[in-house]
Amino acid sequence: MWAARVHAFGGPEQLTYEQVPRPVPGPGEVLVRVHAAGVNPPDWYARRGFDNIPEAIRPVWPLPFTPGSDISGVVAELGPGDSGWQVGGEVFGLVNFPGRAAGYAEYAISPAAHLARKPAALGHLEAAAVPMAGLTAYQFVVDHLRLGVGGTVLVNGAAGGVGHFAVQLARIAGAAQVIAVASGRHEDFLTDLGVDRFVDYTRAAVEEVVRDEVDVLIDTVGGPDGHRLLPALRRGGRIAPVFLGDYHPERAAAAGVTVGGWQVRSDGNQLAELADLLDTGRLQVGIDSVFPLSEAARAHARAERGHLQGKIVLQVAG
Ligand SMILES: NC(=O)c1ccc[n+]([C@@H]2O[C@H](COP(=O)([O-])OP(=O)(O)OC[C@H]3O[C@@H](n4cnc5c(N)ncnc54)[C@H](OP(=O)(O)O)[C@@H]3O)[C@@H](O)[C@H]2O)c1
Repeated sequence: MWAARVHAFGGPEQLTYEQVPRPVPGPGEVLVRVHAAGVNPPDWYARRGFDNIPEAIRPVWPLPFTPGSDISGVVAELGPGDSGWQVGGEVFGLVNFPGRAAGYAEYAISPAAHLARKPAALGHLEAAAVPMAGLTAYQFVVDHLRLGVGGTVLVNGAAGGVGHFAVQLARIAGAAQVIAVASGRHEDFLTDLGVDRFVDYTRAAVEEVVRDEVDVLIDTVGGPDGHRLLPALRRGGRIAPVFLGDYHPERAAAAGVTVGGWQVRSDGNQLAELADLLDTGRLQVGIDSVFPLSEAARAHARAERGHLQGKIVLQVAG
């Protein structure tokens, strides 16, 4: 089968398109004929040898490897035992995360429990855009932050993969006000997704136009100046970093603000809940761009240029 592989850590050019043996599913596993694979930041972090992760917690991945944990496709073969899936069923999933998967390929193995029925209303390209970003937003909003009715939620990096799902799930949870922070070209996209207020961070310092009014900040941007949005929060507010950042914990504590983030985990049952929201049109998927699997290197170059509006997807079949 064809796959996009990494033989040496480095830039997008390290992704090579080549033939490798088709994998064989073990007990509790499913072989999926991949129709589309989503591109996520950890895919290119892995390709670069996780050089943006502090050494103490840096994952070590032996070379060569096939990246990719988001897939949408059709069940091709079942491993021994009852997986609950049938050959021919359309599925999508975040495979084996946190951990390694090999989704940039014509066939990929997944634990049966990491898959869900593909939303009937979506094609494979759209479905492959959902798993990691959708589950991250879902797990932050529902499991960890337990957002309910009322309150102001600000999503920083609102147009990106995680952000565009987070603004919608916060609204579905019943937030009184959802504020989206992104660069100006995303305003219509985010307004169409139902945000109440849009702040273009390239034109105004967010913390100067939003002050003492945010109950929950979902920050998909992070970085060394993650703390700059602290003045936007009211006392009792919560900052939920989606990526590593410096949030000045002492200053936050003095302002009565707590800081706590989490890592997304594969979960087929939660993905099935997202599938229902997608099928009923309550949740929308944004697609930034689509590349053929053979051009995975170009897809990574696009990802690293940043400023995404929704997700990048690799077309593998069809
Ligand atoms: N905790 C977890 O388990 C988990 C799961 C998934 C992802 N992540 C991490 O979360 C981060 C976001 O992932 P993603 O997939 O959503 O990335 P993404 O699709 O690349 O989106 C990032 C978004 O941030 C915006 N942005 C960049 N600089 C900004 C700034 N200074 N202020 C506001 N917005 C800014 C970008 O567009 P504009 O600048 O044009 O607005 C872009 O839309 C990554 O670091 C990823 O590794 C963590």
